[in-house]
Amino acid sequence: MNGKKVVLITGTATGIGKACAIMFARKGYCVGMLDINEVEGQKTEQEIRAEGGEAVFIACDVAVEAMVSAAVEQVATQYGGVDVLINNAGIVLVRPFDEIEWADFMRVVNVNLGGTFLLCKYVLPLMKAKNSGSIVNMASVSGHVGQTEHVVYGATKGAILSLTRALAWEVSKWNIRVNSVSPGSVDTPMLRSDITLEANRTMKSFDEVKKVREAEQAFNRWADPMEIAEAVYFLASDAASFITGTDLLVDCGWVAK
Ligand SMILES: NC(=O)c1ccc[n+]([C@@H]2O[C@H](COP(=O)([O-])OP(=O)(O)OC[C@H]3O[C@@H](n4cnc5c(N)ncnc54)[C@H](O)[C@@H]3O)[C@@H](O)[C@H]2O)c1
Repeated sequence: MNGKKVVLITGTATGIGKACAIMFARKGYCVGMLDINEVEGQKTEQEIRAEGGEAVFIACDVAVEAMVSAAVEQVATQYGGVDVLINNAGIVLVRPFDEIEWADFMRVVNVNLGGTFLLCKYVLPLMKAKNSGSIVNMASVSGHVGQTEHVVYGATKGAILSLTRALAWEVSKWNIRVNSVSPGSVDTPMLRSDITLEANRTMKSFDEVKKVREAEQAFNRWADPMEIAEAVYFLASDAASFITGTDLLVDCGWVAK
């Protein structure tokens, strides 16, 4: 309503989504933020407002259609539309294949793939009405390489790569771009809980496992969430006006090895 562009980002309570929310707010966007973690979600909103940015947090499970449609409507009404959608919310499942239950499978698929589908479903009509828009989906190195004990997680990320390609063609006639980002290891609560689980299971220390997982990156370190937010912002912005249907690996050489 105030002439600013509007971004809607999912999974903004912690990690990469939080970094994206802060980045877009600093670039002058109104930021609509969706997450199931209300305590940390509100904190992100407060941090952005303390810097003079414009943001609203809405408690929303991206795998629940009624919550997604209501949240999208709230952001669109408050800010006058949605110019950019960042489908970042996700959960990881690190478990040997034969220990995975159907309910685990369904939850990971519903959040990672289903959430991306639902957000696109409810945001695209707003973008089509404006004949412009940009969507960035969060994939992963796990969608590119076979990662042990990441079968279901990797499958959802591979599906996001395919969804991104097909949707990019389908919505191109409305001048809407659809891309994805595939991070390597990023220092977030998700990765740290992964490493803790692996350390417990293999009877190693957290630091021992961390060292091995850092070495998957050519610079022998994990990314800061802001390094991923930079790539997301680039793909979402007009600087990427001729880029659609593609995936940007931000993995410090992991897949290139
Ligand atoms: N951290 C990594 O190394 C890494 C690597 C590759 C890809 N990714 C992807 O990046 C994205 C962000 O991950 P992160 O590392 O920042 O993790 P994170 O756990 O720090 O953040 C994920 C956020 O999503 C939220 N969330 C989870 N389920 C939700 C739901 N159903 N509805 C709404 N919000 C929900 C969480 O509350 C959290 O705030 C995920 O899609 C993840 O798969 C992460």
